[in-house]
Amino acid sequence: MDLMHHSKEEFIEQIAAGNKVDTGDWMPDDYRQLLIKQIHMHAISEIMGAYPEKEWVKYAPTIQRKLALNAKIQDEIGHGHMLLRLAEDLSAPLGRGREDLLHDVLDGRVKFHNVFHMSAPSWADAGVIGFLVDGGAIITQAMLLASSYAPYARMLKRIVAEESFHMQFGESVVLALASGTEVQREMLQQAINRWWPAMMFFFGPREMGPQSQRMLEYRIRTMTNEELRQKFIARYVPRIHALGMTLSDHELYQDPDPPHFWHYTDPDWDWFNDMVHHNTGPMSQARLALRRGAQEGLAWARHAALQAHATIDVRAATL
Ligand SMILES: [Fe+2]
Ligand SMILES: [Fe+2]
Repeated sequence: MDLMHHSKEEFIEQIAAGNKVDTGDWMPDDYRQLLIKQIHMHAISEIMGAYPEKEWVKYAPTIQRKLALNAKIQDEIGHGHMLLRLAEDLSAPLGRGREDLLHDVLDGRVKFHNVFHMSAPSWADAGVIGFLVDGGAIITQAMLLASSYAPYARMLKRIVAEESFHMQFGESVVLALASGTEVQREMLQQAINRWWPAMMFFFGPREMGPQSQRMLEYRIRTMTNEELRQKFIARYVPRIHALGMTLSDHELYQDPDPPHFWHYTDPDWDWFNDMVHHNTGPMSQARLALRRGAQEGLAWARHAALQAHATIDVRAATL
């Protein structure tokens, strides 16, 4: 996008006409702030999302499952660091670097995704996270492929491709359990009972706040929370029933008339808000403690990598 006069009105017109903003383009301050908020939280959530699954690597039932789960976790950490590069570029004019962005989750300056505050007490949870959470992430991230910020959309192409492998891993675990013994089927049912209500708050509140509204106006995102949730429900209700599993939400039904809206039991939004704002979920503090251990315990490795990078730069400059 080429904006000669750098006016906010022109910027909004260009976005509405479907033009994209690229690296180095001028952007209004509030657009930059909203991008940082979105991409920073996304990056940190990818990293925090690795923890519930990491707990299950050593208990994976076969070497193939262990390798696949390990690869998924490495992908998620990779997604986090790729996205941090974007957030870092956007934050540089504000004087904030990667260390600050990584540290922010530890002192509550950035939230992490609501579902990663929940517990994953059985192997079936590791499968259901891939099946439902990565399945939900694909819906959100496919919407973000149309984002007005081109570097984010480009990066998401690769991320979404990898998320589809994660979903297939989860689906494979879920199918194995669904066609297993009674004990395995019960373990799967219990995990679905835990994660379905979490998926109802995965996409966020029905009423979106002013910042989310602004993200829609700027086309950083292109669908509402409720539109995304409806898409998820429509896709997953038949899949879960096809596994021979049940959904315990008695208010879950689809309107027979167009637009065939799905009704569901609303999550306890007060409980939800408290959890995401004050880290009071069942596993919030435990996961933050793991993150703190990694952040502080591996500071030497980041420092050494930066030193090595600086040395290579000096050598390259003298060749
Ligand atoms: Fe990911
Ligand atoms: Fe994933």
